[in-house]
Amino acid sequence: MEENIKKLFNNEIQNMKNYIMFEIKARQVELTPELKAKNRTPIPLSMGAPVDPVPDFVIKKAIEYMDIDNLHTYTTPKGEVKFLEAVAKRMKERFNVELDPKTEIFSLIGSKEGLANLVKALVNPKQKEEEKDVILIPSPGYASYTQMIKLAGAKAYGIELNEENNFTPNMEKILEEYIKEGNDPNKIKALLINYPNNPLGCTCDLNYLQHCVDFCKKHGIILISDNAYCEMYYDESYKPHSALECKGAMDCCIEFYSFSKSYAMTGWRLGWACGNKDIITMLSRSKSTVDTGVFKVIQYAGADLLESPEGQKYIDEQNIKFKNKIQKFVDGLNSLGYNVKMPKATFYLWLKIPERYSDCKAFAGDMLEKSGIVIVPGTGFAKNATRYVRLSVVASNEDLTEVIRRMKEDGFHF
Ligand SMILES: Cc1ncc(COP(=O)(O)O)c(C=O)c1O
Repeated sequence: MEENIKKLFNNEIQNMKNYIMFEIKARQVELTPELKAKNRTPIPLSMGAPVDPVPDFVIKKAIEYMDIDNLHTYTTPKGEVKFLEAVAKRMKERFNVELDPKTEIFSLIGSKEGLANLVKALVNPKQKEEEKDVILIPSPGYASYTQMIKLAGAKAYGIELNEENNFTPNMEKILEEYIKEGNDPNKIKALLINYPNNPLGCTCDLNYLQHCVDFCKKHGIILISDNAYCEMYYDESYKPHSALECKGAMDCCIEFYSFSKSYAMTGWRLGWACGNKDIITMLSRSKSTVDTGVFKVIQYAGADLLESPEGQKYIDEQNIKFKNKIQKFVDGLNSLGYNVKMPKATFYLWLKIPERYSDCKAFAGDMLEKSGIVIVPGTGFAKNATRYVRLSVVASNEDLTEVIRRMKEDGFHF
């Protein structure tokens, strides 16, 4: 890249790489001819993108709506009334949360942009590290969080989730540590939580969500709850909740939802934000200047899917399929000497790498170059996760069997 162009851009973007998943994908494409030649056609277990067909129902609906003339014009950024009302109904039925579709729900072009736009609206961009606003995020956590916070001119403070704290750390203790480390509590703007968690697959109960709401209210900050995986769970006793079910949540909380994972509709780019009406208004100011909402046809088809028995049936069937698929894969990995448990939710496995590898990048690099198995180094999710990799169990059963076969044949056992 020419320095004279690069130096015109802001410091963060100058030092940033493309989003890790697309970097890995580019490497996969580059190596594909070589891998095919040695019978190791790449099997992607990197992106959280299910390969299953989307619900038939939503395709039929979208085709019907495509024929309606006035659905091809600009929508409002907030979303079509039909979509907002369908979301309100879904939130009521699924979580018993009452929302006003006029003021407490906002359509999104997938939840990623919604989160990024909210963060941008929330923080004051600063150059100097010590002056930057802070958002508390889970660590490990979705790789985009840190990047979108940096890009907005703020900084992320990682809250470690581990077995010792049952993946649900006491937030008052975290704040004490944060202050002890010399950080300024007044800089904290929000607590961002993600249960079920990418990449750990852990969940939390309603009491913990209430703890987070109480913490945010007490300290006058916002609770951002990323509920992208709320429909992907394998045991009724761990059925995910909405933070909006908690007492006082409507005073401080915004929650993000996505069609991407539950309906395998990653490419459709559809989601919603809901919660406190003032936070929604601020999000609206940011979003309405940079985008003009979701294609009406997609909103209409999505609304029908949310309200239909077909939508729920699809979710239920997918969860059974995923449960069997993940369990079989977990058994396969454990037969190679790994020690991995069935996740409570999501389709992610967080795998400890064998000692002989120097770190997760070396392991992931070898898996790709030798075996064509595409996975993500743990450091993409937490700086200190050097001994872990994330596998998305999104491939077909046949491909997953092939992954285990290749790992055995190519020496990737413990
Ligand atoms: C935790 C989490 N949040 C949000 C997203 C973004 O999903 P989308 O933009 O497709 O709705 C993802 C995608 O992988 C994710 O893992």
